[in-house]
Amino acid sequence: MDQVRVLSPATVANVVCGFDCLGFALEGPADNMLLSKTSAQDITIIHRDNFGLSTDPTRNVAGVALQAFMDAAGVDHGFELEITKQIMPGSGIGSSSASACGAVVAANLLTGEPFSAHELIELAMAGEAVASGARHADNLAPCILGGFTVVRSAEPLDVIRIESPELYAIVVHPQIEVRTADARTILPQEVPLRSAIKNWSNLAALIAGLYRGDMDLISRCLVDEIVEPARQHLIPLFREVRSAAMSAGSLGGGISGSGPSIFMLANSREAAERVEQAMRDIYSGTDIIFKSYVSRIARDGVRQAE
Ligand code: HSE
Repeated sequence: MDQVRVLSPATVANVVCGFDCLGFALEGPADNMLLSKTSAQDITIIHRDNFGLSTDPTRNVAGVALQAFMDAAGVDHGFELEITKQIMPGSGIGSSSASACGAVVAANLLTGEPFSAHELIELAMAGEAVASGARHADNLAPCILGGFTVVRSAEPLDVIRIESPELYAIVVHPQIEVRTADARTILPQEVPLRSAIKNWSNLAALIAGLYRGDMDLISRCLVDEIVEPARQHLIPLFREVRSAAMSAGSLGGGISGSGPSIFMLANSREAAERVEQAMRDIYSGTDIIFKSYVSRIARDGVRQAE
């Protein structure tokens, strides 16, 4: 095999009370990436999209991740990577992670799968660090493993895939860019013990709710007193959109990753479509341009495509 095409999905990190550790994968949108072996021992990147990302492999997230893969695998050839991004950079649904994960999973498929999924997350982290200025894996882990994942530790990497019931995510993306690196500089450096207790109580109970498939418990746990208060001003009409979603039957939700996307969870496709409409109605009455998506929580991460 000299060529492989993969679909690398969007992901939602943090999941309200799990800052920098909890995340889940969506079925779509997904970046389409075609990786080919070349004889020259270098990396060529071609973008078939209009996001204006660098094609310099040392500055492109996918290029950096691919180089980390090549160094670790010691391959005796190069790669050409053609990327058609569907996930807008700076959207808060794991655009840079999709680039990094798609690149390393495709390279693994083309080279006889020398690395495990966990090793691939580690290699993709090199690319993610270029985009966000920090080595965190809460988008990378679900992007590769699918489902919900917990990053217990980023260094050394320790990732756990979490069982979950059938759930739907609604993502509304106001078309403004929030850079993760910027959204991290506004976070509090110290947290009152009272707030920390609330967060880890909710996170622990959320994991129990996911394993039990207990929708009421999941709903009660989607609360965050630490990160959301510091970031919500970056997102237009955040409170109004979430409140409309709750009135329409959502289980709960909040800022997706570092924003500006807002995600909400629902327990059926019908409920998800009602929630999506309620969220759209808030922005439709304004001049805010936005996109919205409804997706089941994906069972798989990056997948091979035709
Ligand atoms: N956990 C990260 C953050 C996700 O919220 O900054 C964004 O990539």
